[in-house]
Amino acid sequence: MNEHVSIPVAAPDAGEIKNSRKVFIKTYGCQMNVYDSTRMGDALASEGYVTTEEMGEADLILLNTCHIREKAADKVYSALGRLRDMKKARAAEGRELMIGVAGCVAQAEGEEIIRRAPAVDVVIGPQTYHRLPEALRRARGGKPVVDTDYAVEDKFEHLPATEKATIRSRGVTAFLTVQEGCDKFCTFCVVPYTRGSEVSRPVAQIVAEAQRLAESGVREITLLGQNVNAWRAEGPNGRDWSLGDLLYRLAEIPGLARLRYTTSHPRDMDDRLIDAHRDLRTLMPYLHLPVQSGSDRILKAMNRRHTGQEYLRLVERIRTARADIAMSGDFIVGFPGETDGDFEDTLRIVEEVNYAQAFSFKYSTRPGTPGADLADHVSEEVKAERLERLQALLLKQQARFATSCVGSVMDLLLEKPGRMPGQVIGRSPWLQSVNVDAKTSQIGDIIPVRIIGTGPNSLFAEPAERLMGA
Ligand code: SAH
Ligand code: SF4
Ligand code: F3S
Repeated sequence: MNEHVSIPVAAPDAGEIKNSRKVFIKTYGCQMNVYDSTRMGDALASEGYVTTEEMGEADLILLNTCHIREKAADKVYSALGRLRDMKKARAAEGRELMIGVAGCVAQAEGEEIIRRAPAVDVVIGPQTYHRLPEALRRARGGKPVVDTDYAVEDKFEHLPATEKATIRSRGVTAFLTVQEGCDKFCTFCVVPYTRGSEVSRPVAQIVAEAQRLAESGVREITLLGQNVNAWRAEGPNGRDWSLGDLLYRLAEIPGLARLRYTTSHPRDMDDRLIDAHRDLRTLMPYLHLPVQSGSDRILKAMNRRHTGQEYLRLVERIRTARADIAMSGDFIVGFPGETDGDFEDTLRIVEEVNYAQAFSFKYSTRPGTPGADLADHVSEEVKAERLERLQALLLKQQARFATSCVGSVMDLLLEKPGRMPGQVIGRSPWLQSVNVDAKTSQIGDIIPVRIIGTGPNSLFAEPAERLMGA
């Protein structure tokens, strides 16, 4: 159980007052980084740091970075340029500002970050951030610290459990990382290099963390992993458990009303997981299952290890198990060698699947990945034109899905105050944002609502009782 583990913490410096320091964490990239940022906050809380939303009042600014596309990595260096100026201005006032870089750019570039941005005090990898307090203490000695070795110890064993009050302040939905790293080596992707090989957290650790979240008022948990459905561990009965088994177990936790998981690889969708979609009302009818391309030739070059037809058959099986499931996906256009014909295949698979939600990107060459060495790179213009066509189609499908909800009654998890007084924003089973008239005291409740309209990125609803009573 990870409830009572504490990280080894040295005594604070002489004269240091607890809670005297503030940290501002800026998160880039995927949900796993969002989760890691909260856990870095936990590690720092045990050192007396409080999290602030105001960069200007922070004593420590931590960038939790993403390396997935060139643009994502570039953003970090431009942010570091601005922080260098801020640090100088602070120094002139005699105030300290420490700068830390965490996440996937930290892992990929390590020492190089200090060379390019000497204002940085600490570079810490995604597998070593439980050692962040120690790294900061060492850096305070004057020399920057780079700690990106893959730790032999399990960081989760060393991170302090999140304070219940902190969990409550973070809201009624939460992320929980159950699996990290990737062994798939898609030829375009840096993740296997930045996050290391696939590792699954043990059942007891996950159940304890989920229970703690539920006891603190969390109603919906999204299990996270770069390949979350590759999660495998020993079940309490000594049997091998896959993600499906874990979901059946988590569905038993009192108070926990909703479960989701992301991101899944088509090759790891096993029968048990599909059964879970059929059997568990707690498991929300929404699945992010990236296909990347509809062309078998490109799928092969990407090393996805399945064909377009295999993906379509899988989607059909999932829909047979849970008819109302909404599909979501990721797409890359302009992978090296992608012809007009290959791109048409992508449009065709999108037409066939009919996505409720999707993310699409222009291929970005990543140093060190096999894709970078491929010949026949697609020009920027062609990539841009293909992306535009694909996004137009995906947007049309999204709008169609939203419109199809109008008139229906669904359960809404009330999540946060809306923009207007008297309004609350809730989350639908299909991961849509829904505005409804409700009291903020109802946040955390799940109420039936009737969808009455659509907005650009959200839906509008009325409490269903009111309509029925009318
Ligand atoms: N593990 C997940 C994806 C993680 S990365 C999976 O296998 O589906 C999130 C998305 O970023 C990918 O699905 C892909 O669409 C996109 N992506 C990854 N590398 C990219 C690159 N080099 N260029 C453009 N998009 C990329
Ligand atoms: Fe990247 Fe492929 Fe692994 Fe997903 S499965 S993280 S796209 S290498
Ligand atoms: Fe980016 Fe790392 Fe996530 S590269 S997408 S932050 S795993």
